[in-house]
Amino acid sequence: MSQLAPSILAADFNHLGRQIQQLEQNQIKLLHIDVMDGVFVPSISFGMPLITSIRKESRLFFDVHLMIQEPIRYIKEFAEAGADLLTVHVEACKDVTETLKQVKMQNLKCGISLNPETSIERVLPYLDLADLVLVMSVHPGFGGQKLIPETLDKVRILKELRKDKGYHYQIEIDGGVHQGNLQAVVSAGVDIIVAGTAVFSGDIAENARKIKGVIENAS
Ligand code: DX5
Ligand code: ZN
Repeated sequence: MSQLAPSILAADFNHLGRQIQQLEQNQIKLLHIDVMDGVFVPSISFGMPLITSIRKESRLFFDVHLMIQEPIRYIKEFAEAGADLLTVHVEACKDVTETLKQVKMQNLKCGISLNPETSIERVLPYLDLADLVLVMSVHPGFGGQKLIPETLDKVRILKELRKDKGYHYQIEIDGGVHQGNLQAVVSAGVDIIVAGTAVFSGDIAENARKIKGVIENAS
């Protein structure tokens, strides 16, 4: 069954610790953490100090999405801060293989991500190494955008490829997921569903329960 990974980009940072606790109390196991550098994407979010801080109080699996240019420069720092998985963008690395290998050398899971306009061919050489493929369903940089439906075709292709070639990666989708399109997302074959706005707007516990309910029914 697909898992929900709430994105803290949409959290209220004044109450971040308490909001993460609420997620844990509602059986959430993964936390999606969006790091943006203002270069690879137009926006700047947060970095290692925030991860270090929330790691002290949380045992959730930290799924760290690096929207930064040349992430190879910071792998050790993110490992030390408490990441469990580091996802890098195929568009942002000079040497993708070396970047993924260095993530693994830190004993972390490694993910590869591709933007909506990037073709699936770009990630094919790295699929045997990847523990996760993150399909961007919006242009990265901001929460609260609309899911681009064509990106679900990539999920279907990745699912087929995994079956045909015996790869082990999980497939994650990120951006614009809400209760209204969850069914379509689950049917496409996604393993991990990132949701920011849909989880953190309003009652977090109720949102998480409702989204998990739809996932259960759709699976
Ligand atoms: C976008 C980020 C997403 C974003 C999702 O660049 O990678 O993780 O926080 O937010 P929503 O669910 O609001 O589209
Ligand atoms: Zn993300």
